[in-house]
Amino acid sequence: MLRLLSLSLCLLLSVSISAQRASFDIIPLPKEVKADTTRFYSLTDGMGIAYDASDNESARIAQFLAEWVKEATGLRLSLTPSAQDAALRLKLLPSKKNKKGKKQEAIPSERQKEGYTLSVTEAGIDITASEPSGLFRGAQTLRKALPVVKDAKSIQLPLATVSDHPRFPYRGVLLDCGRHFFSIDFIKQFLDAMALHGCNQFHWHLTEDQGWRFEVKALPRLAKEGSVREKTVIGPGRMRIYDNIPYGGYYTQEECREIVRYAAERYINVVPEIDMPGHMQSALHVFPNLGCTGGPYPVATNWGVMRDVLCGGNPETLEFLKTVFGELCDVFPSEFIHIGGDECPKERWQKCPKCQAKIKELGLVSDSKDNGEGGRGSQDGRTAENKLQTYLNHEIEQFLASRGRSLIGWDEILSGGLTEKAIVMSWRGTKGGTQAAKQKHRVIMSPNVFAYIDHPQLKDYGKQPRTTDSYVVSCSKMYSFEPLIPEELTEEESEYILGVQANLWTEQVAYPEHAFYQLLPRLASMSEVGWCRPEQKDFEDFKSRLPRLKKLYDRIGLPYCHEVE
Ligand code: ACM
Ligand code: ZN
Repeated sequence: MLRLLSLSLCLLLSVSISAQRASFDIIPLPKEVKADTTRFYSLTDGMGIAYDASDNESARIAQFLAEWVKEATGLRLSLTPSAQDAALRLKLLPSKKNKKGKKQEAIPSERQKEGYTLSVTEAGIDITASEPSGLFRGAQTLRKALPVVKDAKSIQLPLATVSDHPRFPYRGVLLDCGRHFFSIDFIKQFLDAMALHGCNQFHWHLTEDQGWRFEVKALPRLAKEGSVREKTVIGPGRMRIYDNIPYGGYYTQEECREIVRYAAERYINVVPEIDMPGHMQSALHVFPNLGCTGGPYPVATNWGVMRDVLCGGNPETLEFLKTVFGELCDVFPSEFIHIGGDECPKERWQKCPKCQAKIKELGLVSDSKDNGEGGRGSQDGRTAENKLQTYLNHEIEQFLASRGRSLIGWDEILSGGLTEKAIVMSWRGTKGGTQAAKQKHRVIMSPNVFAYIDHPQLKDYGKQPRTTDSYVVSCSKMYSFEPLIPEELTEEESEYILGVQANLWTEQVAYPEHAFYQLLPRLASMSEVGWCRPEQKDFEDFKSRLPRLKKLYDRIGLPYCHEVE
């Protein structure tokens, strides 16, 4: 009896000790981990985190780390600029300059900036990086390695060296705030979730047919009136049943700057999108003179692709766009500015005297017919109207270049010919992305069948909230995505693939809980697509690492889909 009792006591003790152990089997999996799982460093309450006192960013990262350690374990660490008695040390190395004779990459690489080394020795924990962004990623790794426990007295970390940097420099998530408006507080939580998964680009979709969400000070009516729709279509499929409730909201420039600052503290760049010349019905509602027919146009109340778009032949259109993009550049410091360019049906342009006169003036001729691949009313192919869209893109590209910015567009911008430096975001599969890379243009891969998280993640639609329901994007489907497509791209062409992005469109997603449910844990899948090398990826192994991350979701209070397919 006594032996049985002591045996179960031992068992209980070993279970509780292993529950207090850290592990570097995290998501995304670091590039290299060398761990000795028989020897441990003990992190205990009251120990110090040292940071470089001359660097504000290190101090902030130390503060984050102290909060994360407390959140996961209850341990309270104190901040100290002195490395001497600290258990945890954040250290910035002097930047390594480009060495002479070193092969220049086709694209200046950002990825090394986010690299770090994390080492656990008997003398404590050191996170070392050449840039603060690397320290931040290293601190997130330590955070995710911790067990999520209650009121720990100490945490045992295996002695280890973690050497890590991401595979791709661009790892993004799109949030559509046009179809539904999301609060600034929610967007901050969303950014925190992105940072937890090692993402570094927040693509903020700010305008849609159903609502204009960005304040333009020179055009005060635009957001005030363009942000409000009379009602919203509800009910299944394409049935036209409306809620009859006015819906609106927009972000002031002050709020946008607040998001830029918050994101930057988490080493996330904000890529703003003003979608043009299609998806513009909310702007046409305010300025009907910018449409080919003159309107009137309501802010759209149902979903889909609208045939009314900005008039491509009216000089006021470019004036309008330059005002909008000018203020956008004032607010968002991002090199990347997204101009949309998707799903712009050309039937109005084909019949519009102004559009046709502009086509004539520019000498644009159709080299091919609409090949019908545009989908949902868009033209595809080198038609005169698509070339007119390229003309608008060219004007905006020049304007953005004068502000030191680069243009990103959805892959439809290939149809009329790419402008000189355009970056292509490939969403209708990967074809557009590979075509653009072959033309030596930078590319972000966001193919809908792998990356659209507005779609269901489970095969059984009944088990999840309503979503865009034409196909399933499961965790495993997303995980299986390989952006470089070796059979189509040479090594040199592959260098133009900047990275990947998951897109959360929100026709069916109106509330924060639902948005997080769509996002998680699929963002964990996407994080490994963007961070890990193909040889590291194994879905079964990924699944075995997921429970630890889910415990952290629970601790933070993030809703997520509990099943994984
Ligand atoms: C898109 O999904 N229309 C870019
Ligand atoms: Zn027109």
